[in-house]
Amino acid sequence: MQFYLDTANLDEIREAASWGILSGVTTNPTLVAREKGADFKSVISEIAELVDGPISAEAVSLDGEGMVKEGLEFATWHPNVIVKVPSTTEGLKAVYQLARKGIRTNVTLIFNAAQALMAARAGAFIVSPFVGRVDDTGVDGMQLIREISQIYKSDSEITTKIISASIRHPRHIIDSALAGADIATCPFKVLQLAIRHPLTDRGIEQFLADWKSRS
Ligand code: E4P
Repeated sequence: MQFYLDTANLDEIREAASWGILSGVTTNPTLVAREKGADFKSVISEIAELVDGPISAEAVSLDGEGMVKEGLEFATWHPNVIVKVPSTTEGLKAVYQLARKGIRTNVTLIFNAAQALMAARAGAFIVSPFVGRVDDTGVDGMQLIREISQIYKSDSEITTKIISASIRHPRHIIDSALAGADIATCPFKVLQLAIRHPLTDRGIEQFLADWKSRS
């Protein structure tokens, strides 16, 4: 399973990229809006300079035609740009049209496996099931990843990748990998939490103390 960073913050992307673990970046309108005053095209172009992998940029149109128009523009910004569209009938139309033009899409806001299957059939490059937001409703979000993974694996025509999205804690990363996700897109904070362990810290302290005490 690969790691993407779920952010539009360039400092976080620069730092995580330096760890050698980053295969791509996902953004959404909320994450871009957090970077006050940043121009969307500049943000996406700068991210694409920092990370050599798929960079998701989300369309904000509600109609398929509008999404296609936005997607065609995003695709001129960098060859690694993936057009993110919502899991709606208009989104499916956009995926279908963009795929015919060779433009890759990420179908987002997926909350059931049928949506993921329809996105794949329309030609989506990636789907983004929102694990954390499903958990928030009291339902096991990881079951969504298990179901989509099983459905995709049982159909040899499907090459669509699964991004486990709306990741909230390190356990989500482990369970996503076990459930068959191709990618986990994580907030920077969750990646920081995932690498830390108190026993690792204690082990370092002990090794250093013993090293200093040698005579
Ligand atoms: C996915 O691409 C989304 O940007 C993201 O994972 C949403 O996560 P949230 O539920 O923490 O907003």
